Amino acid sequence: MKTFLHVADIGSLQTALQEAAEIKADRYQFEHLGRHKTALLIFFNNSLRTRLSTQKAARNLGLDVIVLDVNAGAWKLETERGVIMDGDKSEHLLEAIPVMASYCDVIGVRTFAGLTDREADYTERILRQFIQYSGRPVFSMESATAHPLQAFADLITIEEHKEKARPKVVLTWAPHPRALPQAVPNSFAEWMRAADVDFVVTHPEGYELDPEFVGDARVEYDQMKAFEGADFIYAKNWSCPGVTCPEDYGKVLHRDMSWTVDEAHMAVTNNAHFMHCLPVRRGMIVTDDVIESPRSLVIPEAANREISATVVLKRMIEGL
Ligand code: CP
Repeated sequence: MKTFLHVADIGSLQTALQEAAEIKADRYQFEHLGRHKTALLIFFNNSLRTRLSTQKAARNLGLDVIVLDVNAGAWKLETERGVIMDGDKSEHLLEAIPVMASYCDVIGVRTFAGLTDREADYTERILRQFIQYSGRPVFSMESATAHPLQAFADLITIEEHKEKARPKVVLTWAPHPRALPQAVPNSFAEWMRAADVDFVVTHPEGYELDPEFVGDARVEYDQMKAFEGADFIYAKNWSCPGVTCPEDYGKVLHRDMSWTVDEAHMAVTNNAHFMHCLPVRRGMIVTDDVIESPRSLVIPEAANREISATVVLKRMIEGL
């Protein structure tokens, strides 16, 4: 595997889930694979789960790990070509990428959505430069438009907890005080469409996800109707994706607290499990009662980030 950004990069989901289960049963069985090889994890923004779980995954495979926080200790990086660098940015990404690549065998990148220039975000300008100029396998640790390690961990979690062959899985928008990227809901939609689940998306009008990710998934604008009979509720906020209203890209269009997932919402489900990628704002996205209930999967879901990252890193170093 040379890149990991979209669900297609992982190939058969059944095979990937089987591999994840085998790794979870004995997560050190491939520790010989990474001997004398190095994973470089580059963070352009904050992280708790991705930072820890990906390091743990690399160590499961015997890899050395270097973590770089670009905004804390490195030179400030210019990412655009053709600019006169007379400001506070001391180094260009186009020199920094091959330099960083010379110290490692595989690269993970967490970049960010600017949420002002839709084209720059949706062409994954920064991640693509790493793929083009590093000469190394590159995986997204959440990029401008996608969070595939999270979606893979979510799928593993659903597989482990489903109580019927083809569960109903609902992705619901929920309110948040700040503008957030669409990376998590995009990838979740993309992976759920590829999985054997009955998938429904619910959000206020104006929050339609990009067709590249959501495809022909069923969209239900009535949140309570979407929740009826659901086996899994996956809550997430996202800002306006700019699909139906390009001028609103990246903006917060609604703060409607009636969309907060509470016990009244969960009561119309099929005793659904609650999921969220974390970090989560209690009282905005979900109530204390729902996230603390026995049906909440937020902790096992986060723990499975180690497993999804181990599968992806294993496949990358096997291909070196
Ligand atoms: N879910 C997730 O990616 O968490 P972090 O932002 O803390 O890495």
